Amino acid sequence: MTQDELKDAVAAAAIDEVRPYLYRDTVLGIGTGSTANCFIDRLAELRDSFKGAVASSEASAERLRRHDIAVFELNEVGSVPFYIDGADEVNAHLHMIKGGGAALTREKIVAACSELFICIADASKRVARLGAFPLPVEVIPMARSYVARELVKLGADPVYRQGVVTDNGNQIIDCFDFMIDDPVAMEARLNAIVGVVTNGLFAARGADVLFLGDTSGVERLT
Ligand code: 5RP
Repeated sequence: MTQDELKDAVAAAAIDEVRPYLYRDTVLGIGTGSTANCFIDRLAELRDSFKGAVASSEASAERLRRHDIAVFELNEVGSVPFYIDGADEVNAHLHMIKGGGAALTREKIVAACSELFICIADASKRVARLGAFPLPVEVIPMARSYVARELVKLGADPVYRQGVVTDNGNQIIDCFDFMIDDPVAMEARLNAIVGVVTNGLFAARGADVLFLGDTSGVERLT
């Protein structure tokens, strides 16, 4: 199977997971990226069985609308029963690095409002220790250099993601060479730096269920 086929296989598994719980008033939380796109495309067939979705990015909102799935503001909705999203890395505790697509802040907000976070990923995303993927940090633009200096003090090699502006009008710094031993503590430590909007560690609120796809099939992990 190709990596795209694996992404579609885990998206299909997540569809099977949520399908029995879709009602006329159900609003789903939807993530961002190529794996989340596979889920959105499959969700289109079920559009008449639920109310709509909250999206974690403008890109996902646009894709949902193209499939005639209604998109709601999170403030109109409150909590969502499921949040379905991909990851850049995921460990055995279902802690993740996310934000490769620069959508980390909205992803973290929708995830925080979800009752069940379903992560969908191909097996290349599974790691023993988080950090080989450069950890994204969203920053208020005027704080970028200050935050970068603070990240160096923590042992990271911060690189400004040139030309990228987040949906919130902010900038991204990617932390290279930053292996993470305690994701929960590091998530809180990074968020305490003045000027940081949020960071791509999803550990305080990790995933509840992981569908991981490899050539032998899709595994459901909790
Ligand atoms: C976007 C994300 C994505 O979930 C993450 O980058 C995985 O993307 P893909 O499914 O394309 O590999 O966090 O900000």
